Amino acid sequence: MLVAPSILSADFGKLSLEVGSICEAGCDYVHVDVMDGHFVPNLTMGPLVVQAVKKAATKPLDIHLMVQNNPFFVDLFAPLEPEFLSFHIEEEKHLHRLIQQTRKHGIRPAVALNPHTDESLLEYILSDIDMVLVMSVNPGFGGQKFIPSALEKIMRLKERIERRNPSCLIEVDGGVSDQNIHALKEAGVDMVVAGSYLFGSPDYRAAIASLRV
Ligand code: DX5
Ligand code: ZN
Repeated sequence: MLVAPSILSADFGKLSLEVGSICEAGCDYVHVDVMDGHFVPNLTMGPLVVQAVKKAATKPLDIHLMVQNNPFFVDLFAPLEPEFLSFHIEEEKHLHRLIQQTRKHGIRPAVALNPHTDESLLEYILSDIDMVLVMSVNPGFGGQKFIPSALEKIMRLKERIERRNPSCLIEVDGGVSDQNIHALKEAGVDMVVAGSYLFGSPDYRAAIASLRV
């Protein structure tokens, strides 16, 4: 299982130290939640702050856009060279074009699904993307409770991925902890995002290890 800590739950007063520690503790990616106050009722980081995160990180960035006007934000964050850039399908009329735009920057595109969004919408786009991000809470805030229907969605998605594009990864984001990690693994998840569980733990290395199933 790949582990991507969400820095949304880090202590922002010492953000670069937190990013350094979580990388040192053995995570695989640093998950960065970009919120615009429109697509979600919260506002987080712009490129200036994410640049500081990148400078402190020894692992690649996984940027999760929760914004309106995706094409603008893809171009805004592309110079920071994240490994993955995910955007929400609910906000996008021209998903295929946005995927092409992301690839042109040399960045791996991922599509995010809100808890109510049917995974069947991805059928004709799965072969064009490198990852699907399944939200298991409503996007906007850390520390929420895992929504159990995400598990069924992941299992259905896994079947679809095996048919269409077996190398496409499944990432799950929201309410992940040592309590549901085994069920997530069994359902077919490749990468977990964890915010409050990891940053709320006294020992980042042990907490990451507990998700490494
Ligand atoms: C929510 C964000 C998540 C969030 C996860 O909108 O996309 O990445 O930080 O936090 P936890 O792990 O606390 O649910
Ligand atoms: Zn996220």
